[in-house]
Amino acid sequence: MCRHLGYLGPPVSVAELLLDPPHSLLRQSWAPVDMRGGGTVNADGFGVGWYPQGQDIPLRYRRAVPMWTDTNLPGLARSARATGVVGAVRSATVGMPVVETACAPFTDGEWLFSHNGKVAGWPDALAGPATALPVTDLLTLDAPTDSAVLWALLRRRLRAGEDPARAVAGLVAEVADAAPGSRLNLLLTNGRVLVGTAAGHALSVLRTADAVLVSSEPCDDDPRWRAVPDGHLVVAGVSGEPSITALPVRGDHIGWGGPSDTDEDWGTMTVTEPVVDVHLTEEDARRALRGDALVGLTADPKWLPPRWFYDARGSELFERITELPEYYPTRAERAVLEAYAAEIAALTGARTLVELGSGSSEKTRLLLDALRGHGSLETFVPLDVSASALREAAGLIAADYPGLTVHGVVGDFTQHLELLPAAQPRLVAFLGGTIGNLLPTERAKFLGAVRDVLDAGEWLLLGTDLVKDPGVLVAAYDDARGVTAEFNRNVLHVLNRELDGDFPVDDFDHVARWNAEDEWIEMRLRARGETRVRLAALDLDLRFAEGEEMRTEVSAKFRRERVDTELAEAGFALTRWWTDPAGRFAVSLARAED
Ligand code: AVJ
Repeated sequence: MCRHLGYLGPPVSVAELLLDPPHSLLRQSWAPVDMRGGGTVNADGFGVGWYPQGQDIPLRYRRAVPMWTDTNLPGLARSARATGVVGAVRSATVGMPVVETACAPFTDGEWLFSHNGKVAGWPDALAGPATALPVTDLLTLDAPTDSAVLWALLRRRLRAGEDPARAVAGLVAEVADAAPGSRLNLLLTNGRVLVGTAAGHALSVLRTADAVLVSSEPCDDDPRWRAVPDGHLVVAGVSGEPSITALPVRGDHIGWGGPSDTDEDWGTMTVTEPVVDVHLTEEDARRALRGDALVGLTADPKWLPPRWFYDARGSELFERITELPEYYPTRAERAVLEAYAAEIAALTGARTLVELGSGSSEKTRLLLDALRGHGSLETFVPLDVSASALREAAGLIAADYPGLTVHGVVGDFTQHLELLPAAQPRLVAFLGGTIGNLLPTERAKFLGAVRDVLDAGEWLLLGTDLVKDPGVLVAAYDDARGVTAEFNRNVLHVLNRELDGDFPVDDFDHVARWNAEDEWIEMRLRARGETRVRLAALDLDLRFAEGEEMRTEVSAKFRRERVDTELAEAGFALTRWWTDPAGRFAVSLARAED
């Protein structure tokens, strides 16, 4: 039964962490206090991995001798200074080799990993999970031990791009299932985020003013040490409060003794329930629709705001649009985020991600992954008009991002920007080119409102589609398969249902036109013949002349200068401008100015 420790913070010497404290890892190697499941000393080797300041790839030193017998260690540890450290001392399980390569930390690229515990029923119990590993991974295993196999399995998840906390929680769940009774205290870091589990062994966490420590046992008598309850996951960045959430594992699947050594009701199957604030009820939405319909349908020419496309069917049709060969914006924006999410995370160091009009969960995940990998993210705030869509999306994110606080807001991004008092700096993402649905004056008002809720130094991430060949643009809004036409007409179904109307939906044709003067795409619905419509809920009778067009959407296209100017007028400074390789779509990062 081993011991391990992880540190993130300002540069310290490895000795200050591993050797000097009154209850250092060195001391724990021969006099551990809290040893569950037996075990005496940790004499079968030790290891330390550390990130010298400014270096992403850690250095490592391991020996297959008791830590206290290595006469080179004190000098080495005194001279090695680092902003991130993982130390581990080992007590080999009977039947496993005492060799240097079996000592934690294991490493791959930027990662350091340690396992404190034992897989029950080794090796047979791991045979199942291990079949998922490429043969080369098995042939190049660090050592024939349970910990080395755990590392190979975790490394595979990380290489597949899984969020570190999700990868660790997922691995614990997988192994607890295959090998019930295992002790799976894992510790993983990339030098920016620390992820640890208490699963069958003790674990404590200490947050000081500028550093965080996660350790098998408190190393000193600092009263701020907190015990992580068994069956829980801790995720800690250099700043902010470490989050502690239950692992999605049945309590009797980890550890040998059950909840014998804590009073904690540990390991119950809980996923943090996302909080959802409702600023917009269905009644509010119906009232807004009545107002919009009354104003727009009695105007000349007739028009409707595009937000009413998105009932369940409209949202589904939009999802299908994003997969059409002609509709490039979604793919182009994803390409930008795939390429630059890590840079966005590094530049902003955001502790809160606010996503306006969150629907596109896939793109959200690129940002969440990057911000978590960076180690700063604590809270995700999705804002959407649809309560059902928001609840579903928030639930999925909460389940997949253990340790992340998910605080949804049901609201309209043009009205409900009084954001939550979530940790700063915040990054407000408004993606998909949806800002193009606002008319220039609405846009100015919206950007000003976003600026108002932010403090100087906080961030806006804005997706904008760009001006290009009108043929390409029109095709994107008038696809060969007619999905966009169905999407456009769907607004008439919405009016019929919500306002007791009788639009003959199929008597309206879809029109998409490039307005070169205003540089926007206009979608319209054209009455094929003279058409009379009654909206009973409004007591409103309408007449469409033959060929009369009603505008249902503008989707503005931008140039860099316009984005730059409009941001500046709202009080933002354009910090970065990224486009996809073909230059079709831009993502801007802007900083709220004083
Ligand atoms: C979701 C608003 C970005 O304007 O391109 C897609 C909606 N309309 N096809 C856009 C839309 C027609 C889309 N936004």
